[in-house]
Amino acid sequence: MKVAVFSSKPYDQDFLERANQGQHELVFHMPPLNRDTALLAQGCDAVCGFVNDNLDRDTLNQLAEHGVRLVALRCAGFNQVDLLAAAELGITVARVPEYSPHAVAEHALALILMLNRNLHRAYNRVRENDYSLNGLLGFDLVGKTVAVIGTGKIGQTFAQIMLGIGCRVVAYDPFPNSELTARGVDYLSLEAIWAQADIISLHCPLNDATHHLIDAQSIALMKDGVMIINTGRGALIDTKAAISALKQRKIGYMGLDVYEEEADIFFEDHSNHLLQDDVFARLMTFPNVVVTGHQAFFTHEALTAIARITLANITFFEQQKLDKVWLVNPPAPDPQPAGE
Ligand code: NAI
Repeated sequence: MKVAVFSSKPYDQDFLERANQGQHELVFHMPPLNRDTALLAQGCDAVCGFVNDNLDRDTLNQLAEHGVRLVALRCAGFNQVDLLAAAELGITVARVPEYSPHAVAEHALALILMLNRNLHRAYNRVRENDYSLNGLLGFDLVGKTVAVIGTGKIGQTFAQIMLGIGCRVVAYDPFPNSELTARGVDYLSLEAIWAQADIISLHCPLNDATHHLIDAQSIALMKDGVMIINTGRGALIDTKAAISALKQRKIGYMGLDVYEEEADIFFEDHSNHLLQDDVFARLMTFPNVVVTGHQAFFTHEALTAIARITLANITFFEQQKLDKVWLVNPPAPDPQPAGE
């Protein structure tokens, strides 16, 4: 199949070409896929997209007109695709549901340790020949209550890591994981989670139910000095509410790999430009906030698996073996209200 690969970086090209071995014709495009760039997919049977592409109805309409029949996402999340529009247009959507849950779970741990032990500040101090310890005081993780929101593949792996460290792990997920329950994880209501957790780590998908899950209301119910870690999706957190809570020291630490307006910032070198996003700029002024640019997935093992599974999705689609494609189905319609 001829596949237009959007948002492609040299590392994407490297891993995808190695996995492809000439099976499909891959055409690499650096710009993200959206209504302004969909034209680049003309003559292609499939597009391969990433997290900050925007496959809204308009983009999908154009793709359908150009003959595209498959959207092969090379990521786990699919909030960037209008799934109803894709289904109506007869476009199949596939994703990579699991490549390395360890990559993301271990990055969440890295953010926790960096913040807790002030490693970002210690690194700079030592390079300045400053070995003073004032302001670097941390806390032991053992015995602390860590909340995992969303115990799917990544959340489960993260929960197991934190159990290994000796934390008490509590969780919230509409579909509790019996393996975790057996290992001592307590599933609680969100209210109980906010009240009890010392550290909250977000691993649920972004959807209508989880948009701004962390907002002024939920933050008000949290422990003073709580640590919040987000390796899920940026819009799980209302950033302005988080900034206010950081200023009041209600949030004690925040580690972010994702940001709700990241599409205009992340994955590019802006070092010669002025930062235009004032909310993000304010976030970067806090010494107790660490931000990484959506790199939790970025390990050798994960990129190898992403390339392999993305190409397998394309091959199985071409062979019409849809039972072997990791399909993303449109959401079920809301049930009709009962009564008259
Ligand atoms: P998954 O589908 O295995 O697990 C998601 C879990 O969230 C499921 O158990 C589901 O029941 C639960 N969930 C659904 N609605 C919920 C709600 N309202 N509250 C709490 N839990 C809810 O997904 P996986 O692979 O664990 O990935 C989780 C998320 O991590 C993805 O949706 C994606 O947004 C993000 N991600 C971020 C990466 C990064 O590089 N920063 C890389 C990969 C994924």
